[in-house]
Amino acid sequence: METIKLNIDKTLGFVSKEKINAYATQTAAANKMLHDATGKGNDFLGWLNLPSSITSEFLNDIQATANFLRSKCEVVVIAGIGGSYLAAKSVIEALSNSFDWLQKERTSPVIVYAGHNISEDYLAELTDFLKGKAFGIINISKSGTTTETALAFRLLKTMLENQVGKAEAKNRIVAVTDAERGALRTLANLEGYKTYVIPDNVGGRYSVLTPVGLLPIAVAGHDIHQFVAGALAMESICGLNTPFEANPAAVYAATRNELYKSGKKIEILVNYHPKLHFIAEWWKQLYGESEGKDNLGIFPAAVDLTTDLHSMGQWIQEGERIIFETVLTIGSANREVVIPSDEANLDGLNFLAGKRVDYVNKMAELGTQIAHVDGNVPNLKIEIPALNEYYIGQLLYMFEKACGISGYVLGVNPFDQPGVEAYKKNMFALLEKPGFEKETEAIKARL
Ligand code: PA5
Repeated sequence: METIKLNIDKTLGFVSKEKINAYATQTAAANKMLHDATGKGNDFLGWLNLPSSITSEFLNDIQATANFLRSKCEVVVIAGIGGSYLAAKSVIEALSNSFDWLQKERTSPVIVYAGHNISEDYLAELTDFLKGKAFGIINISKSGTTTETALAFRLLKTMLENQVGKAEAKNRIVAVTDAERGALRTLANLEGYKTYVIPDNVGGRYSVLTPVGLLPIAVAGHDIHQFVAGALAMESICGLNTPFEANPAAVYAATRNELYKSGKKIEILVNYHPKLHFIAEWWKQLYGESEGKDNLGIFPAAVDLTTDLHSMGQWIQEGERIIFETVLTIGSANREVVIPSDEANLDGLNFLAGKRVDYVNKMAELGTQIAHVDGNVPNLKIEIPALNEYYIGQLLYMFEKACGISGYVLGVNPFDQPGVEAYKKNMFALLEKPGFEKETEAIKARL
């Protein structure tokens, strides 16, 4: 099997190879700090060895639950937010047929999402959609108290119980939560839901290789054994025994930190396949929440190309020069579409007749890279041999490992997120939640 490769050649006109190589000691020390659990946030390192510690029995159990939901449900709702939904959505979107959800003849349930917003219209439309359909719910919340998710689950649970009765609803609800704490754990125990545990030492944004990611991915019909096998290969490649140049997590962490030091404050994750849109959303959370603190951190942004070349392309080419790009490039498309010849040739495209669409996409990618580098945008490339479970497993683990290393190199705790509490406090004060009386009084005085 091949592995994904990181290519930093097109950053070297902006930062020197010597400067990047000079991070070898620092990134090795950061990697060791992760493995020895001697750095900041060391009680959240359970994700590090997940690929090598997941057993086949565990995966088989998840698959059995997934198969049960697949056999019972035409729709499965994944309720969760942030780290409790982005990973699953990113992998499912990357691996699923773009139009599958519209097909009448289906082999897998339609996957829809809830609990990641508080939009009344969204919830009304979702419940309309679920009316009369056989549906199930995977409710994912580590804390078990997240407002967005709990609110959506309350509505969905009531709807399901009204639709099929309490006894059958219980069979179609799976809770993924803490082993002991939180409202969801209490509810799941009380109702007798099938549950999976999010380990204490795995934070939301690093939880793709726990049931948080694995169960929905399996329900959607993707091969979780292959996904974990890919992550396992990358666990070894990014391990302590790999020299700097051969460790993509270390080189990625080094290169982005050096670019950041040179004034490149924004990293844009670029893809040329719409299926990868949510991989970028997951990556944005991983890096944004891990590094954006202490008034530091690269701002993680993303574009879908070539689509966004017709919108954001201008800014990338000629806006303020504070950006660099990391391009996700796929070796070859899974499907083949050959451009037909046309007798009239009114669109002038006959020069492409007989060529694959992927060839045109690749030339657009290459042309864009050259243009952006000419426009002073340093360019990293992550070469993914093909879009499948195995390589997505490699990619996500590589990003996680690089994020831990990069956070330590930057000098922050990559495993906490103190900043996300600020809005919650204000929201609860405004909603007059019991226990927030003082905050309610204070915030009302400011309105
Ligand atoms: O990365 C994180 O920790 C967060 O994004 C959480 O995953 C998110 O806030 C959801 O939390 P919970 O799983 O407790 O509902």
